[in-house]
This record gives sequence, structure tokens and C-alpha cells, in this order.
Amino acid sequence: MRGRFVTFEGIDGAGKSTHLDWFVGTLRRRGLDVVQTREPGGSPLAESLRELLLHREMPIDTELLLMFAARRDHLDRLIRPTLADGRWVVCDRFTDSTYAYQGAGRGASSERIEWLEAWIHGDLQPDRTYLFDLDPALAARRRSSARAPDRFEAEELAFFERVRAGYRLRAQADPERFVVLDGERPIPEIRVILEQDIATIWNT
Ligand code: ADP
Ligand code: TYD
Repeated sequence: MRGRFVTFEGIDGAGKSTHLDWFVGTLRRRGLDVVQTREPGGSPLAESLRELLLHREMPIDTELLLMFAARRDHLDRLIRPTLADGRWVVCDRFTDSTYAYQGAGRGASSERIEWLEAWIHGDLQPDRTYLFDLDPALAARRRSSARAPDRFEAEELAFFERVRAGYRLRAQADPERFVVLDGERPIPEIRVILEQDIATIWNT
């Protein structure tokens, strides 16, 4: 049986990283064999592309193509073989980030992203996606106390408003795959929702 593919999404500072390690630990304690990974990155070549994507200025088309180049390598070298082995993959960001950031945020056309998505992984979608939804102003305050910004995190509030709206549209269009989590809720409450949802993914 193919393993499950789970992704975490949301604007920077919404709470993804806080819950990811805990979520993977919870799955492992239940005896599941889980690989935790991230995008852009997750394979040696894709991690090199991540450095460029996060720190070098570039035109949007270049950014979009590099995202999918990194994704292709990550899928071929890590995600697909791991799922084929019956193991789970939990990934920090995936193609929903591209629709939200490059599409809604930077204005790349969704037709173009759809075309690239169909080419690179038309046969594979996450089984479950957790979207951490949070007001961008609050997310920015949480970020500023946590770390130095990369090229995306340095964007203005209006950019993150567009990204958030892009994510919400994605979730509305595919309510079976998405679970939207209110990032303003206390951490223990969010954990309860995640914990309860594991059984649902398991049984699908
Ligand atoms: P992301 O990975 O989405 O960029 P983080 O998980 O790094 O965000 O969270 C950013 C900051 O917000 C961290 O300092 C974290 O402790 C804090 N944080 C995360 N979730 C919550 C929450 N539900 N309530 C209050 N603070 C939170
Ligand atoms: P992330 O790993 O969440 O950053 P951090 O480690 O600082 O929490 O993601 C890196 C950045 O990459 C994030 O700002 C969003 C951006 N990104 C895109 O713009 N498009 C994409 O397709 C992906 C996967 C990420």
C-alpha cells in the first residue's frame, strides 16, 4: 500500500514549524515510518536551488521554474520512492505554496502553474493538507521576534494578504484534502485537531 502524503501550508509566521515536528513525532509514536521533508528543498540539488530562491533576486518566471525544478528533483529522489515503499511523507510546503506565493502573491497566472503542476506531478497530490491561517499583521509580529527575514518574509503586508487569500481559495476548491487551522488558537488546541485528524487520514 502506498504511504500517505501530508503537507503543511500557510503564510510565514502562521505556525507551521511549531506543529510540524510535534506532528511527525506523534505519527512515529503510533508506529508509522515517516520521512519529514520541506520545499523548496528536500534533496541535495533542491536544497541548492532553495539557497538561490530564498536569497537571490530574480524575475517571477525564473522563480516559478526554479520552484518546479526543485520540486521535480525532490519528487524523483525522495517523495515518490518513499511513498512507494509504503512510508509516509510529511512535507513543509508543496505546490499550494506556489499557487499562493508565485500565483496570488506575485501574479503568475494560475493556468501556467496548473500546466507545470500537471507536467511535474499530475498523478500525485497530497492526501491531506493542513493550512495554518492567520492575519498577516499578527504573523509578521510573530516572525519578527523569531528570526531574520529571507526574500519572501521581507515582503510587505499586502503581499501576505494576497498569499493568504490565495491559500483560502485553494482550500475552498478542495475541502476534502484541506484542513484549515485557525493560527490564533492556542497551540494545545491546534494539536488536538491535528491528533484527531490523523485517524481520518489513516483510514482513507
Ligand atoms: P511558520 O513556520 O509558519 O513560519 P512558526 O511555527 O515558526 O511559523 O511560528 C512563528 C512564531 O509564532 C514562533 O515564535 C511560535 O512560537 C509562535 N507560534 C506558533 N503558533 C502559535 C500559536 N498557536 N499561538 C501563539 N504563538 C504561536
Ligand atoms: P519555509 O521553509 O516555510 O521558510 P522558513 O524555513 O523560513 O519557515 O519556506 C521558504 C519560503 O519559500 C517561504 O517564504 C515561501 C516560499 N515558497 C514559495 O514562494 N513557493 C513555493 O512553491 C514554496 C514551496 C515556497
